[in-house]
Amino acid sequence: MTVHSFEQHFEDKIDNEISIEPRDWMPDDYRKTLIRQISQHAHSEIVGMLPEGNWITRAPSLRRKAVLLAKVQDEGGHGLYLYSAAETLGISRDEMLEQLHSGKAKYSSIFNYPSLTWADMGAIGWLVDGAAIMNQVPLCRTSYGPYARAMVRVCKEESFHQRQGFEIMLTLSKGTEVQKKLAQDALNRWWWPSIMMFGPSDDNSPNTEKSMRWRIKRFTNDELRQKFIDVTVEQTKILGLEVPDKDLKWNEERGHYDFGKINWDEFWNVVKGNGPCNKQRLETRKKAWEDGAWVRDAAMAHAEKRKNKKAAKAA
Ligand code: 3HC
Repeated sequence: MTVHSFEQHFEDKIDNEISIEPRDWMPDDYRKTLIRQISQHAHSEIVGMLPEGNWITRAPSLRRKAVLLAKVQDEGGHGLYLYSAAETLGISRDEMLEQLHSGKAKYSSIFNYPSLTWADMGAIGWLVDGAAIMNQVPLCRTSYGPYARAMVRVCKEESFHQRQGFEIMLTLSKGTEVQKKLAQDALNRWWWPSIMMFGPSDDNSPNTEKSMRWRIKRFTNDELRQKFIDVTVEQTKILGLEVPDKDLKWNEERGHYDFGKINWDEFWNVVKGNGPCNKQRLETRKKAWEDGAWVRDAAMAHAEKRKNKKAAKAA
């Protein structure tokens, strides 16, 4: 088969919604784009544990503590799932983690904002996981098999994450004046960073065109952002809270909410590493990696011993 026919075969599979599997031929650029997106997605899950992990010891009740603990553990599992999906493309776990720890790899900008009050646990679950669901449900139909299958399990757990966040916000917004103020303050601080999660606008997104062509993405950044805003504004009405966007207005003709200008300078500044918590997040991740070295060494030594024992038995 010539390279041309490999390419043709690949394109035919994409066009016929046949998922691409690890052993299939794929264009280098398809592989590279997937390694980039999946590894950064995995980094986002792992770093995403930090803002919420910060509040586990300060949860207001045993029930809230247990739910938050479960959510943070889920995020760790999502990260491991996604690192495994990325490894099927030929990149090693160590390489991906080196890229994260050295600052070469990106992770979602949203996790570089501080979680200042308990209400932030509600806003993060409701808005951040809500945005993640909007972005991840279409990824259950992404053209790369292992990624799509990983997303099915991840999305089931995300909906629990979003529900528990919304419930925290509902409890606070229907509580005392002080509690309602806490919820509004959290919404004020997390609203814009959450809509930035969907990435730059389509006309400023270098990866979207090919990701759509290869059906890695099923919707563009702006399409998912708009869907998220349309759904979430309705939810703020149930909470009786105000969306911090004076230009937000239902547009009957478009059938969507019009919304204010996104501060792209802020977005790129955070992506480039100058957000409120970027340095702290990376330091914490690197320390966790160093502190965990003994566990990895012990596991490797144990595996080596079992392997040698098996070999000695077979000889
Ligand atoms: N934060 C940091 N970097 C971002 C970003 C964000 N919110 N949005 C875009 N970028 C980066 C991209 O990575 C790309 O840089 P790169 O080429 O060096 O990787 C650049 O900005 C241009 O953006 P594009 O739109 O061209 O990039 P993509 O086509 O990759 O689209 C994306 C960006 C929509 C985030 C896409 O990568 C994606 O869908 N990723 C999978 C989902 C994901 O990673 N979600 C992150 C949150 S995970 C989460 O919230 C966990 C939950 O449990 C809490």
